[in-house]
Amino acid sequence: RSTRFYDFKVQTMKITKLCTTKDIVVINNIFPGPVVYAQEDDRVIVRVTNETPYNITIHWHGVRQRLSCWSDGPSYITQCPIQAGQTFTYEFTLVQQKGTLLWHAHNSWLRATVYGAIVIYPKTGVPYPFKYPYEEHILILGEYWLKDIQQLEKDTLASGGGPPPADAFTINGHPGPKYNCSNNGLHALSLSLSTNYFPFHMLDVYQIDVVPGKTYLLRLISAALNSEVFFTIANHKLTIVEADAEYTKPFTTDRVMLGPGQTLNILVTADQSIAKYSIAMGPYMSAQGVPFQTIPSVAYFNYLGAVPNQVASQASLPSFNDNLAVKTVMDGLRSLNASKVPKVIDKNLFFTIGLNVDKCHSSTPNKSCQGVNGGVMAASMNNISFIKPKISLLEAYYKSINGQYTPDFPDVPFKFYDFVNGAPNNIPNNTSSLNGTRVNVLEYGTRVQLILQDTGTLTTENHPIHLHGFSFYVVGYGSGNYNPQTADLNLVDPPYMNVFGVPVGGWAAIRFIADNPGVWFMHCHLDIHQSWGLGMSFIVKNGIGPLQTLPHPPADLPRC
Ligand code: C2O
Repeated sequence: RSTRFYDFKVQTMKITKLCTTKDIVVINNIFPGPVVYAQEDDRVIVRVTNETPYNITIHWHGVRQRLSCWSDGPSYITQCPIQAGQTFTYEFTLVQQKGTLLWHAHNSWLRATVYGAIVIYPKTGVPYPFKYPYEEHILILGEYWLKDIQQLEKDTLASGGGPPPADAFTINGHPGPKYNCSNNGLHALSLSLSTNYFPFHMLDVYQIDVVPGKTYLLRLISAALNSEVFFTIANHKLTIVEADAEYTKPFTTDRVMLGPGQTLNILVTADQSIAKYSIAMGPYMSAQGVPFQTIPSVAYFNYLGAVPNQVASQASLPSFNDNLAVKTVMDGLRSLNASKVPKVIDKNLFFTIGLNVDKCHSSTPNKSCQGVNGGVMAASMNNISFIKPKISLLEAYYKSINGQYTPDFPDVPFKFYDFVNGAPNNIPNNTSSLNGTRVNVLEYGTRVQLILQDTGTLTTENHPIHLHGFSFYVVGYGSGNYNPQTADLNLVDPPYMNVFGVPVGGWAAIRFIADNPGVWFMHCHLDIHQSWGLGMSFIVKNGIGPLQTLPHPPADLPRC
C-alpha cells in the first residue's frame, strides 16, 4: 500500500465562458480541478491551503472514511471551515474501495466550480471483471452560472423561491457549441441540439478522439449543483460496469441519468462509421412539470480520420420529465457481488423527504416571506428542517459540548403529509417544518433499514439522497407510498451506492451497517434543497475494540 500526497491550493481564477469573463474559485488554478489518483487501500493525504477570502472545506464524496470522520469535510458537520490563509490536511485510507469518485467543496455553493475526480485503480495484479479497454477518459458533468455563486445562493435564499436554472451545463467545464457571442458579447441560446452557433474553431467544447474499433472506459461523474442530468452518445451503446465505485453486472443502455455526486463507469465501443458524433447532457427534473430552461451541453466523440467540423449524428436526450427512462437505468443497476447485504435488520427507520412552504424560515436572511404562497420555500426530513450548528457536530459530540444539537431526530415522521394520495386536499394550511439540529444516534454495528419516502406539501420530486461515511444497498424502490406488505425487496444483487435518486412521489429502501464511528451527514445532493434544510445527521457510537473507536481530532483541525 502506498501513500499519495496532494497539495491543493484554493484560489480564485479568471475564466471566460459564455462570452463573459468572471472570477471563480478553483483548486491549483485549473477547472475542473486536479485528479486524485490512487490504488485500492492506499493512504491519501491532501494538504488544502485556502488562498481565497472565502471559507471552504473539501469533501471526498463516496470515500467511506473508515475511522477518519475528521477528514470527511462537510462544514459544520465534521469540521469548521478552512478560513482565509489557513491550511488543513485531510488524511484517509481507501479501505476496500476502487473505481471512480469525486471530490468537491462542501461549504456554501462553492462546489459549483470546486470539484474534481478521484480515480482508484485496483491493487496491482488484481484484474478488472471486464476486458480492460484501450483507453480511459474522465467526463465530469457540471452546471455553470454567470453570477457569483455565493451571491446566487444568498439571493435565492432571500427570495424565498427556487433558484434560477444554470446558465449552462458543462462537460469537463465546456458548455459546447450552443452559445453565440456575436450579439455584443451577450450569449444567445439555442434550444435545438442540432443548431451549432460557434464556428468550430471557436468552440468551448470537449472532444474525445477515438480509434475505430477500440473500446473506451468513460469515468462519468455528475458534479451538477441543482439538477439531475441525462447523458447519451449518438449512435453508441453505453455499458455500465461500475456505479458509485462498485462493480455492477454489465448493463447496456442508450442513456443514463446521474444525480449530483453519482459516478458511473461506462464502456463504449467505437463501432460506428468514421465520423463525429455528439455527446449530450441535459436536465432530468420532473417537478411541477415546468420545462427546464438550461440547454443541453454537447461534446464530441470524434473518430480519428473523420471529416473535421461535420457532425454525423446528433444525440437525442430523453425529455426533462421522462421518469420511465430513469427507472429503466435504475432497474439495470445490479451489484456484481452483493454477498454483504444485511439480511437481518436491527433498526427500521422511516424518513419522509420533501419540500414545503414555511411561513418564515429562520435561515432566511430576508424575512419578508415574498415566496410561494406568502411563505418561503423550505425542505425537511421527518418534518425537520436541518439547521447547521455554530461549531461542528463532530467536535461537539467528541468534546461533549452542549447546546449544538439534540439527539432526538425521530425514527418516523411526526406528521405524514400524504401528498401522493390526494394532495392538495389533505394538506393543512400551516405546513411549516420544525427547525432544528437533531441527530439520530445509532449503536455501533446496528444493521439499519431506512425507508426514504418522497412526500411534500408542495410538490413531489426526485431527490438524490446522499449518505456520508457509508455505501448502502438499495434493496428496493417504487412509486407511491411504501407498503411493507407489497414492497418487493432485492436481497440478491442490489446496487451498492452512496447517492440514490428517490423516485418522484415514491420510496426507496436502503440498508447499511453502522460500523464506522462518527457523525455522518445525510442530505439531498441538490444544493438548494440542502440549503432549505433537506438533511440530517447520524451519530454512530464507538464499539468496544480499538478498530471501532473514533480517533482524536487532528491538531490542525480548523476552529470556527
Ligand atoms: Cu457530495 Cu454531503 O456531499
